Amino acid sequence: MSVTPELLNATAAHYRNGELFIENVSLREIADSVGTPLYAYSSAMLTQQYRRLDGALAGLAHQLHYAVKANSTLAVLQTFAKLGAGFDIVSGGELSRVLAVGGNPEQVVFSGVGKSTEEIDFALKTGIECFNVESAGELERISARATLLQKVAPIALRINPNVDPKTHPYISTGLKENKFGILQHTALALYQQAAADPHLQVRGVACHIGSQICEPTPLFDALDQLLGLIDDLNAQGITLTDLDLGGGFGVTYEDEQPFDVDAWGRHVVGKLAGRRLKLSIEPGRFLTANAGVLVTRVEYLKPEEGSDDDQQQGKNFAVIDAAMNDLLRPSLYQAWHGVLPVQENRSAPTKRWEIVGPVCESGDWLAKSRNLALHEGDLLSILSAGAYGSVLSSNYNSRNRAAEVMVSGESFRLVRRRESIQDQLSTEVL
Ligand code: LLP
Repeated sequence: MSVTPELLNATAAHYRNGELFIENVSLREIADSVGTPLYAYSSAMLTQQYRRLDGALAGLAHQLHYAVKANSTLAVLQTFAKLGAGFDIVSGGELSRVLAVGGNPEQVVFSGVGKSTEEIDFALKTGIECFNVESAGELERISARATLLQKVAPIALRINPNVDPKTHPYISTGLKENKFGILQHTALALYQQAAADPHLQVRGVACHIGSQICEPTPLFDALDQLLGLIDDLNAQGITLTDLDLGGGFGVTYEDEQPFDVDAWGRHVVGKLAGRRLKLSIEPGRFLTANAGVLVTRVEYLKPEEGSDDDQQQGKNFAVIDAAMNDLLRPSLYQAWHGVLPVQENRSAPTKRWEIVGPVCESGDWLAKSRNLALHEGDLLSILSAGAYGSVLSSNYNSRNRAAEVMVSGESFRLVRRRESIQDQLSTEVL
């Protein structure tokens, strides 16, 4: 399967006279300027995706909390902050990033099963909107820290609704067997405990059942469960004001039907009509995935060796200068990402290539069995790399992290310079 017109259409990349562009800037020009590998993002597409989701909830009191983990590059966060986004964070480091771009702490929700004492204190002192609490132990710790710091901690319980999001097991979070959230039957007692605690302010209920969800039914099932819980709590005199439905809205990587945000929005708006609840969502991938590409150069071509009568067919390897340390999704989830030449090259014969990186692991591949016409030195663009791309990158094999650029109309800016070996060595001593 290669890149279909529908997929290309769903991404920020498009061809102009045989050359791949993001907005009005050629990726070749960017690569010539900053070198490869590089991540390039379209600010117009980030904005467009934000507005689409926001628009789907028009008529309802709501707030988008961008899930920082999907792409925490400051320029990306700043783009969303300017659009009025709140943020969903999972660490003190992410909170620091939000503050660095002028994000409003009162629009920050803090998720995650392992919030440390230091992180809780930081969030309390910063005055975040809400802690999405994932266990009885965490609730106790937040209460103790708030008491010590003479604060009142706003909290929601993250419920594990035990629904199957029908996605990759590594990114499924709303099943009983997953480590996330609190089961509904234990939640009632915890809400009562929290409501009686002067250092806790019970705000709401939250859930996040998984990621890359393309079909909305599991999200609707979770919504029904949370509404049932809200009603049960109401009957006990505990009134919740905030409902956080998490993220998970799926995008097209290959041939998936993209998540129908408008149909989802209509359903949710209908369900919440007449209830005095503020709705939050925590989208990550939907806002960033197809707004970003990873641009890389072909270092070497290693066509298959041996004759036709060999027992085992060999493979054609295209060794590129990006690797699993730059984009981990293929190695970690066997994720499929579209690969396109930056300059259409009709002079080379089309062959079936394994697109692999320089890292010393057989698992270091970016794409398998792609029909491409390749020369050494060609630039390739790996699509849908704007979410869970740069954030999952590492220094494995002592490789420097890639440069990142933000494209806007006719121009682009280097928003993260390529890491240097001095950067890497600077934290160590002999
Ligand atoms: N809220 C919470 C509490 C989350 O755990 C996540 C993602 C999100 C929101 C955002 O989900 P999204 O809208 O992006 O689906 N590295 C994996 C994805 C891990 C998702 C983790 N949690 C990948 O590359 O597919």
